[in-house]
Amino acid sequence: MTSKTLIAIVATTAALTGIVESSAGPRNDEPIQPIQAAVVKDPARVELGRKLFFDPRLSRSGFISCNSCHNLSLGGSDNLRTSVGHHWQKGPINSPTVLNSSMNVAQFWDGRARDLKDQAGGPISNPGEMASSHQLAVDVLKSIPGYVTEFTAAFGTPGIDIDRVTTAIAAFEETLVTPASRFDRWLGGDDAALTSQELRGYELFKNSGCVACHHGAAVGGTTFQKMGLVEAYRTDNAAIGRAAVTGDDADRFSFKVPTLRNVELTYPYFHDGAAETLESAVEIMGRVQLGRQYSDQEVADIVAFLKTLTGKQPDVGLPILPPSSNETPRPLPFD
Ligand code: HEC
Ligand code: HEC
Repeated sequence: MTSKTLIAIVATTAALTGIVESSAGPRNDEPIQPIQAAVVKDPARVELGRKLFFDPRLSRSGFISCNSCHNLSLGGSDNLRTSVGHHWQKGPINSPTVLNSSMNVAQFWDGRARDLKDQAGGPISNPGEMASSHQLAVDVLKSIPGYVTEFTAAFGTPGIDIDRVTTAIAAFEETLVTPASRFDRWLGGDDAALTSQELRGYELFKNSGCVACHHGAAVGGTTFQKMGLVEAYRTDNAAIGRAAVTGDDADRFSFKVPTLRNVELTYPYFHDGAAETLESAVEIMGRVQLGRQYSDQEVADIVAFLKTLTGKQPDVGLPILPPSSNETPRPLPFD
């Protein structure tokens, strides 16, 4: 056989294998759907939002930005049990990831913000987080010539107010999606994208009922559910969950089901950040939500599956921020 013929045979086999693989087609009947790549509708607003997300001058200390607690180098979270805010204050609750957060039914663990725009004003004026005020944050931005120009370009008319600030931040956050995970490639019909252990883990995740709460493109984020459905969950964290919004005692200890996309990156887990490893989070979920005691092997299988949900991280780059002017209110770190 000449080498040319050999190459031809290899090429044909490869082509045939390709046909066999793709003939299975996309898996459309699964409870999890693939994440779609971001469609940038308004590049100028997204770019402005990217700058604001990284700008510590939105905080009173001039030291804390959105990225401090939603670090885009760390899966959009801070990997701390609870966040650290102004003056090293210990935050009351674990910081959820901002990745894929546009898919959430509402924002925050208790859903008290309707959407990303509604949410973005919160941390700026929260005394335990960025500890500024909307007025001060807007005054700071108005004093920075580079921002004055960019707001005009992004919104068509001159002017900076908190509504525009939060609109731009939300536009940026909408681009923070993570498509192309190995699991999504498998959903698309690529059998080779998952190992047999990962597939076993996915089957167990489905069959034991995790998908009742963790489903959809974000594998969560669609409903509020009680933490400790079958067995009480013990914590010293004071959060009461959804009841803080509805005032209904039946919603006590209901939390927004977190997304499991990129969950490998967003440790520690749960609203109190008490589960340090994915293994322990899975073991606890099985027990308190489903009344199941998984074997070590079963936990390992589910964890292997969960790690296939890590997608392509958004390529945001580090923005270079416009400099302050002589008129810019100076940071007030010590009051
Ligand atoms: C000091 C840390 C800290 C800073 C700074 C901070 N956040 Fe957060 N963020 C949190 C914590 C903690 C929560 C959860 C609070 C809760 O649910 O009660 C949260 C929740 C969120 C959520 C909701 C996600 C979800 O799944 O519900 C979004 C979106 C978000 N922050 C975006 C931002 C933006 C935008 C900024 C900057 C304007 C910002 N954060 C600044 C700590 C922080
Ligand atoms: C009845 C609804 C429900 C079921 C069933 C359920 N979960 Fe959860 N899951 C939740 C809620 C609610 C939270 C957040 C709880 C909290 O933070 O207090 C959560 C949190 C998690 C977390 C932590 C995510 C994070 O970012 O903090 C993981 C991991 C997880 N679940 C995996 C699973 C697995 C695996 C199963 C199946 C064994 C499962 N869940 C079954 C509702 C559910």
